[in-house]
Amino acid sequence: MGDRIDLLVHNIGRLVTMQGGSGPRTGEEMTRVGEIRQGAIAVADGKIFAVGEEAEVRAQIAGMPVLRELDARGNLVTPGLIDSHTHLVHGGSREHELDLKLKGVSYLEILAGGGGILSTVRSTREATEQQLYAKAKRSLDTMLLYGATTVEAKSGYGLTLADELKQLQVTRSLNESHPVELVSTFMGAHAVPVEYKDRADEYVELVVNVMLPEVKRQGLAEFCDVFCEHGVFTVEQSRKILTAAKELGFGIKLHADEIEPMGGAQLAGELGCISAEHLLAATDEGFAAMQRAGTVAVCLPATSFNLRLKTHARARRMIELGVPVAISTDYNPGSSPTESIQLVMTLGCLNLGLTPEEVITAVTINAAHAIGKADTVGSLEVGKQADLVIFNAENLAYLPYHFGINHVNTVVKKGNLVVSEGNLVYEAGK
Ligand code: NIG
Ligand code: FE
Repeated sequence: MGDRIDLLVHNIGRLVTMQGGSGPRTGEEMTRVGEIRQGAIAVADGKIFAVGEEAEVRAQIAGMPVLRELDARGNLVTPGLIDSHTHLVHGGSREHELDLKLKGVSYLEILAGGGGILSTVRSTREATEQQLYAKAKRSLDTMLLYGATTVEAKSGYGLTLADELKQLQVTRSLNESHPVELVSTFMGAHAVPVEYKDRADEYVELVVNVMLPEVKRQGLAEFCDVFCEHGVFTVEQSRKILTAAKELGFGIKLHADEIEPMGGAQLAGELGCISAEHLLAATDEGFAAMQRAGTVAVCLPATSFNLRLKTHARARRMIELGVPVAISTDYNPGSSPTESIQLVMTLGCLNLGLTPEEVITAVTINAAHAIGKADTVGSLEVGKQADLVIFNAENLAYLPYHFGINHVNTVVKKGNLVVSEGNLVYEAGK
């Protein structure tokens, strides 16, 4: 590094760097986005070589050959967006549930009736690895077009060892061939499969004794997640799975207190989860436990919107109590069938009450912390990966304000141009 510049992005009207601080941002820190006027970024070997005011960056690279230049035309540039919670790989879709939803049947009622997650489990079991790959790749392309350069992906629609491994293998193959970087999470405890109906404890044993060790042996996931909810997995079952996962060396996450206040947030804090998700029904005691442990709250406002819930996660209270907040699509075929992180940014603003600055923090540096990747992504700093987005927008507030459309013009991942003028331009195989 240091003899040439591979890429110089210049004429950046507003450059949101997210620089400053080390841990996940909390409280007031969530509003500090490290914005630079008239900025530039110089990239070498896929990493950021220099970033700052254009005049300073040009001075730093004076005399070095520049292989490619990108003119941001006075627009906004941010770090590559990070979707920290998705159920990317799955078979089928569930538009047939829309009618039930309009009739007022709830998400948990649909699940209890063998639909919901269990319907997607059937489709996923029936699908071949190739079919799952093709479908997930289309979604990943859409995510990239909308500015996501790093995406977490959970299993949990197989619910047998073989079908969970099949999903995780697809995630691994996509990570090897697609420019979007994937972070894999094993979520065998996403629902109790029909074969184990009324025998949830036995299924928990299978997850703990068979699935977790095999996923670990094959190195197919970094994290383990559990759906802790009434009618799904109890706090005790969740504790058992996550404790076993932690002992095996997995990072741990928890779908907590989405619909009923079960004490999931407390459990996440107590066990030292890297993140706790949903949290609509979480109490202040739960937030306090998360704050003590530094657990990132991953709020999923597209899910509450799509489930037609009347309440939202209390993101403002979390911020008040010092809990770091991230937001994410929760992309999945049931509760949140959208790949658009930009829609989530609007909902984060309008439904969770986050400011545009807090929103961008929640989809960059705090999202990076939620998936253990803050040392390489989530901010534009010297030495970090050159993952960035040029928007067709002049400032941050414009993104959540002008909603429901795609503002992305250009995406750079690890220094490579992967979206140009709103179109995919990456070469297959990275
Ligand atoms: O995070 N809450 C549990 N799991 C997913 C939904 C999965 C589905 O409905 O297929 C979620 O919302
Ligand atoms: Fe989820």
